Amino acid sequence: MSTLSATMDDFRLNLGGTELKPLVIGGMGVNISTKALALEAARLGGIGHVSDAMLPDVTDRLFSTHFTALKAKFFRHLAGLGFKLGMNFDTIDIARHTRRYVEDVMSAKTGPGLVFINVMEKLTMNDPLKTLKARLNAALDAGIDGISLSAGLHTSSFAMMEENPRFRDAKLGIVVSSARALNIFLRRTAKTNRLPDFVVVEGPLAGGHLGFGMNWSEFSLPSIVDEVLAFLKSANLSIPVIAGGGVFSGTDGVRLLERGAAGVQVATRFTVSKESGLPDPVKQAYFNAEAEDVVVNGISPTGYPMRMLRQSPAICSNAKPQCEAYGYLLDKGDCQYLRAYREQVAADPSVKAPCIAEKTCLCHQMRNFKLWTCGAATHRLKETSVKLPDGTWWTPPAEAIFNDYMTGRNDEVMHPTLEDAMASK
Ligand SMILES: Cc1cc2nc3c(=O)[nH]c(=O)nc-3n(C[C@H](O)[C@H](O)[C@H](O)COP(=O)(O)O)c2cc1C
Repeated sequence: MSTLSATMDDFRLNLGGTELKPLVIGGMGVNISTKALALEAARLGGIGHVSDAMLPDVTDRLFSTHFTALKAKFFRHLAGLGFKLGMNFDTIDIARHTRRYVEDVMSAKTGPGLVFINVMEKLTMNDPLKTLKARLNAALDAGIDGISLSAGLHTSSFAMMEENPRFRDAKLGIVVSSARALNIFLRRTAKTNRLPDFVVVEGPLAGGHLGFGMNWSEFSLPSIVDEVLAFLKSANLSIPVIAGGGVFSGTDGVRLLERGAAGVQVATRFTVSKESGLPDPVKQAYFNAEAEDVVVNGISPTGYPMRMLRQSPAICSNAKPQCEAYGYLLDKGDCQYLRAYREQVAADPSVKAPCIAEKTCLCHQMRNFKLWTCGAATHRLKETSVKLPDGTWWTPPAEAIFNDYMTGRNDEVMHPTLEDAMASK
């Protein structure tokens, strides 16, 4: 069969004996990959992700609790632009929120697929080791099927879960952008005597933070996949490789599966699904984006380049640092945005609303859906939808996008008609 006539449904992803459709919906914080989206992927036989980014705040909104408001009140004495050295997260609270959220998701799971949680290790929360350990173990305790470790790969994260009774049966994997990063992770975790169950290889066209420098365009997903597969072969390791970043059609997926990837991770096409957590006007902005609107810049205080729409309200914003309420990026009491804000105010205290161009308050902006991160193919989303009589784009159900990936051939993507859209509304 030729690549063009094959479909992703001709392949299966085998994860430690579990046979799955080879499609993974990647984690999208903050609550863009909702419970509903992850559950759809699992129902349809693939893998869905929820995200652990800012979970205490997400659960506050879902279950009407007040953790964030109380935290802001408690740390009011640290308000202002100084260092937040005494501002720590209570790990018991963090674990409680993670458990509540994950239990709620897992109790609703149906179908043959799996639900994983994406844990970004760069969410340092002013105490990277303790807070990460609490988040990872609480997710396992609450019954999550698996964990994807991403953004900042902490080489001791496997050791942090070693004592957990589910350490050896939950599916644990990592997201890397090079064979070198994978090699370092494997060497440092060797003493836990446990290999990752999967490796996500994320290329330079992905959404969210990129695992490359500003020279990201010099890299390509297929060559990194080849490099990782060659490394695993040379080390005599058999770990399924899941490739992601810029996979827009089922045929794009088939090309990677034929290359030796065991599965494909996608996200951008699901940002505009009905189940995505983005507010509807933001979904419309994604549909209306043109190629020149999709930019990679350095405004994330994590230090990683991030891809986003240039219309994102978070760019050049003057949001007052929100550490007392959130503070997920604090490290030793400081954050790159807090520093940028402080310097700007010191440079000219008379300016009431300075434009902080170099960094953004990632917590506040992501939480409020004002940083419109997206993959490189966002401008193509309009090809997969249709305009409704009121002039807005139709937001397809996740099931339609999932099936389009699984059955699409000849480089084609779905082109719904107005009748299709109206019938599914
Ligand atoms: C809106 C959006 C938010 C994302 N957030 C995260 C995240 O919180 N953590 C993470 O590891 N990856 C994140 N990603 C990356 C995706 O999980 C996925 O690996 C990648 O975007 C796949 O490429 P594609 O978007 O071109 O399909 C995000 C991607 C998008 C589009």
